[in-house]
Amino acid sequence: MAKMSANDYVVDGDNQFRVSPRVYTDGRIFVDEMRDIFERTWVFIAHESEVPKRGDFKSTFIGQRPIVVVRDKTENINAFFNICPHRGAALCREQYGNYPVIVCPYHAWSFKTSGECLKIPDEGRYPAGFREGMHLIPVPRVENYGGLIFGCLNAEVEALESFLGDARYYIDAWNARAAGGKFKLGYPNKYSYAGNWKLQSENVVDGYHPQVVHSAAFNAMAGAIMAKEKSEAGQAEGGSVEARPGAHYAAWAKKDVGSLGLTRAFRNGHSTLESGIMFESARVSAEVSQVWIDRIREINGEDMAPDVILNRHLFIFPNLALMDFVLRAWYPVAVDRTETYSYALRNEAIDEALDVGRHLEAQTQYSPSGAVAPDDADIFNSVQSAAMTDIPQGLDFSRGLGTESAGRFGELVGAISDEVPQRAFWREWATKMAYKADRTHSSSDGEAR
Ligand code: FES
Ligand SMILES: [Fe+2]
Repeated sequence: MAKMSANDYVVDGDNQFRVSPRVYTDGRIFVDEMRDIFERTWVFIAHESEVPKRGDFKSTFIGQRPIVVVRDKTENINAFFNICPHRGAALCREQYGNYPVIVCPYHAWSFKTSGECLKIPDEGRYPAGFREGMHLIPVPRVENYGGLIFGCLNAEVEALESFLGDARYYIDAWNARAAGGKFKLGYPNKYSYAGNWKLQSENVVDGYHPQVVHSAAFNAMAGAIMAKEKSEAGQAEGGSVEARPGAHYAAWAKKDVGSLGLTRAFRNGHSTLESGIMFESARVSAEVSQVWIDRIREINGEDMAPDVILNRHLFIFPNLALMDFVLRAWYPVAVDRTETYSYALRNEAIDEALDVGRHLEAQTQYSPSGAVAPDDADIFNSVQSAAMTDIPQGLDFSRGLGTESAGRFGELVGAISDEVPQRAFWREWATKMAYKADRTHSSSDGEAR
């Protein structure tokens, strides 16, 4: 069979940007993505707070490869294939746990948390020295940036810091929201949707949809948050609610956000969606909120403080988003099935009311029964069904094309509703998937196949 060119699926022209709907539905493309994207590039595998103690482990995936992340006796965080080198049984079957020694549930071979084979029952039945080749299979590269642990199955991959590039500044800004402390991930909310993994990658930095898809949720939240803010403001002399989060939710609900915010696109497919306002309420009083803001200013200085305080979704290619009070990662299960893990960001360095309030907002917005996440999942399901219909001209991602400006790092910057992040995603996808590696391909007939 002739090799497929990714450029057959992404048309990146001067005046058009189109993507074939087959990228969401074709099982062969999905198989290629697992090999050429997930097994070639850095993928988030854990936050260091998920394995805080020696022997703690987390089971996860890189693409469809089962992985276990474990903190060993020397405090190193290691990652191995979650597969026994004897006959392939899964070693750690729970999502989290603590094993001083990892014992395979099939024939009880045991392994140190550093991966070394410790004991083989009735070892004398094997030839001498047999054990030397029977250690856990390591993930070739594991690196940590800002508490985020990434693994890569490609030993030749560029350093993690290089892969993250200038997006690191916004990881730093996200971590700075812990106000001098460190985030701890809460237990994740998990849900799946009947759609392709890339739908979530596009959506988490899509500023064109929230005021439409989430209008009911924003209306409800605006009402609840503003009622609390008004009652507080009424008690405080000269109190105003205009700059508080409730008003911002109300602005979104009224679709009155056109001039706010921006989108950014970095090298390697990373991007941001920034609404330019403080979107988090955590249902705390203005005083509690102000203490946090003042602390951020004190630690980070006036220049950086707005980048820490104001709302942002930071997308790290291919399947991670760092949000105001949530970390979200999503995992391709099948071409039309994705599992999303949404973790509340807990933080002991801030006022308990703010910490608890953030936790509650994570639950009420991004859990499977939250006010926001199911709206998006419903759209993903509908796009997945519709994508089975071959749309000859492809799906359009040209909003704001050609009007981008350069940001402080040289990144592309567009309006909040522009499809700048989505184009960055698809360009990176096409580069990773392009056997002919022609990034600037433009189709003369404008048809994405
Ligand atoms: S498969 Fe693990 S000990 Fe046999
Ligand atoms: Fe959404």
